[in-house]
Amino acid sequence: MEAIRLANALGAELRGVDITGDLSGSEIEAIRKVWNEHHLIVFRGVTMTPPQHIAFSKRFGALDDHASTPHERLDGYPQLLEVTNKPKNGQPSQSRNTGRNWHSDYSYTGRPAAASMLYCTEKPPVGGDTMFCNMARAYDELSDKMKGVVDDFQSVYDINLVSGVSKRDPEKMAVLRELNPPIAHPCVRTHPESGVKALYVSERTSHFDGMNRAESAPIIDYLCRHATRAENVYRHQWRVGDLVCWDNRSTMHIALGDFDPAQPRHMLRTTLQGEPSGHVVPPADL
Ligand code: SIN
Repeated sequence: MEAIRLANALGAELRGVDITGDLSGSEIEAIRKVWNEHHLIVFRGVTMTPPQHIAFSKRFGALDDHASTPHERLDGYPQLLEVTNKPKNGQPSQSRNTGRNWHSDYSYTGRPAAASMLYCTEKPPVGGDTMFCNMARAYDELSDKMKGVVDDFQSVYDINLVSGVSKRDPEKMAVLRELNPPIAHPCVRTHPESGVKALYVSERTSHFDGMNRAESAPIIDYLCRHATRAENVYRHQWRVGDLVCWDNRSTMHIALGDFDPAQPRHMLRTTLQGEPSGHVVPPADL
């Protein structure tokens, strides 16, 4: 197995491993080690079925059944989330504008995602890229004074700040609001495997618990701009057959709308469950 770095801040492509094969425990641990070191790993040229995608993902931990976003599950496979602009059951796909702001997956739930594994099955001829940033590096590069400030913050996540809310079906959006009330998580978290501290704040953070929106907004804005500077980012240009695996505890990502929406873009995602976390709080005045 060979790891080739993809960017200065994060990311490595892994070659020489067939992830659809029967991998040994030591091979999985070797992959996990590279993943923890680089925060994001890419496998290219993968041909796999939904059960193979699920089987590989499960080797790294328990999978989410996506009950927090039930309308986006792949029929027959609740462990697979469809991120697609292709109509579903004759209706516009609810996930066609998914991920258009910087975020970490399932941060608006009581069990935020540890990691995600996104597999590209169809892509537009140009664009449809995804950008990732390194939140451990972003934390590390703050001044000690600023670290002391954010160490005590709790970031409140609000489902109303996911992208494309206004274009979603209002009834389905009401279900999502009911399932996912605003929730506060620590703004700085320690990675359970690597021990590295990382920022946990995003464009889906409405405010910091105990502070109002006007007080919180400039700090959220600063932290997001700081984290997403070009030098802290890897931009993935998809090919069909790519499996991109990212650690949601140490990265954020954004799916760019830089493509013709008439062209199909179809992805399948497994989500590895993180630790239960956070407490429900009253909504901010958005
Ligand atoms: C996501 O935010 O999980 C989807 C990212 C993408 O479609 O590129």
